[in-house]
Amino acid sequence: MTHATAQAIYFYDRHPMSGEIIKAKLRAARGHLKDVKPEELWPHDQDHYGGIAATDALALAASIGPGTAVADFCAGLGGTVRYLAHRYGADVTGIELTPSRIAAAQELIALVGLQDRARVRQGNVMDAPLPGASMEVVVSQEALCHVPDRRATLAEAYRILRDGGRLAMTDWIANTPLSAKDAQLMWDGMAIQPLETLSSYGDIAKEAGFRVQSATDLTDEWGPILEQRLAMYQRLREEARQAGTPMGHDAFHESYIRFVELILRRDLGGIRLVAVK
Ligand SMILES: C[S@@+](CC[C@H](N)C(=O)[O-])C[C@H]1O[C@@H](n2cnc3c(N)ncnc32)[C@H](O)[C@@H]1O
Repeated sequence: MTHATAQAIYFYDRHPMSGEIIKAKLRAARGHLKDVKPEELWPHDQDHYGGIAATDALALAASIGPGTAVADFCAGLGGTVRYLAHRYGADVTGIELTPSRIAAAQELIALVGLQDRARVRQGNVMDAPLPGASMEVVVSQEALCHVPDRRATLAEAYRILRDGGRLAMTDWIANTPLSAKDAQLMWDGMAIQPLETLSSYGDIAKEAGFRVQSATDLTDEWGPILEQRLAMYQRLREEARQAGTPMGHDAFHESYIRFVELILRRDLGGIRLVAVK
């Protein structure tokens, strides 16, 4: 295992959102876990910025509909996999590195009865465990920021797509180069690799063979979303403190506060990239 994969797994094994927390919230709200509907998970299982509306934007851009074969790169707890399968009727395969995330994703897929068209498989997106030309769409949300070789990752997205297949993704970007201190804080707290810029993302997509349709700057949209997300993490941390359950990773909380400051200053930002094979 490389340093990068070990750090990502370390971070996600301690992340304040987990399968256990989602199940605990459902039990508290409804008393049991029988007949859970996919939409009951949505307030808890979307580990990206902007919730299901952000996924709708990707689905629209990539023309996802009933039966579309979709790969979700870095699927996490499978929130996007389940949403695209349920809301759009797509057939979705998530690729995910962290074993605890895969187990939780698979459990939540079974809990809501979506096993026929949704699954999360073990794998590294730099070497995706999917055959060439097997997919119509690749999506990814706020995850390639952890991946050391994005050129290899976009080349893998290109390889697994059929001709005319679409890449629709969002990710962190650096609008201004981070100081060494901030880069270290983002690595220690959130396993963040050196970031692309708005223009370098388009360049590496073109190098992989894609025709870039749009590269949208999401920085201003992310500011208020991330302020709310920071408040949510602080609430979860306080709930965990009061319940005497694990409060998560201190370095994560410290780096998240700085991350939100850097987004509000526009030093860091976000991109939505849409490209076609
Ligand atoms: C922010 S979460 C994204 C969750 C998901 N996209 C969502 O929107 O709910 C990032 C995920 O990327 C995974 N990850 C990081 N590096 C990876 C890699 N090289 N290959 C596959 N997954 C990776 C992490 O384990 C983590 O679960």
